[in-house]
Amino acid sequence: MIRNDFSLRCGDAFESDQPIWLFGYGSLIYKVGFDYQQRRPASIHGWTRRFWQGSHDHRGTLESPGRVATLVASEGAICHGMAYRIAPEVLKALDIREKNGYVRVITDLYFEDGTRDEALVYMATQGNEAWLGEATAFEIAQQISTAAGPSGPNRDYLLLLADALRDMGHDDPHVYALEEALLALEAGAG
Ligand code: BEZ
Repeated sequence: MIRNDFSLRCGDAFESDQPIWLFGYGSLIYKVGFDYQQRRPASIHGWTRRFWQGSHDHRGTLESPGRVATLVASEGAICHGMAYRIAPEVLKALDIREKNGYVRVITDLYFEDGTRDEALVYMATQGNEAWLGEATAFEIAQQISTAAGPSGPNRDYLLLLADALRDMGHDDPHVYALEEALLALEAGAG
């Protein structure tokens, strides 16, 4: 069940000079582009990955926005991704890279060896300026198939994420359904 009544610890006022964990669940899983001290598979609980956020600055344009992953609160859900141990100054560059509706929050982080910590995560919540919300897999795949932006074609974002999750051994029915719908669309168009 997807919840809307989640409570978050805001990461905006994050001011420590100590290294922190950053949790990636989208492009940060397969495309890093910043210095890090450690990289470890990890998960966060109570959140599920959804392609419900519009992108008009990375994987689309204002005229033809793409769709990228955000997190939606969902009781009992586990979202698998990649955690990076980073120096806090790395966030400055990321904040520029990850604008377009994303905010920082702090959440509990679970490693595969059973240990845990806290992590900062970027998420775009319902109602932000680029929010697109729920749609069928076919509708989302159609939008993704035609969108492209400064970071490249939207289809590459989806397919690289699906491949990365498979490589990590994780099932993500939402992502795989979108991948299947996209590949079917492309096969039909070919
Ligand atoms: C991520 O990969 O976790 C991510 C990337 C961009 C914005 C928000 C999250």
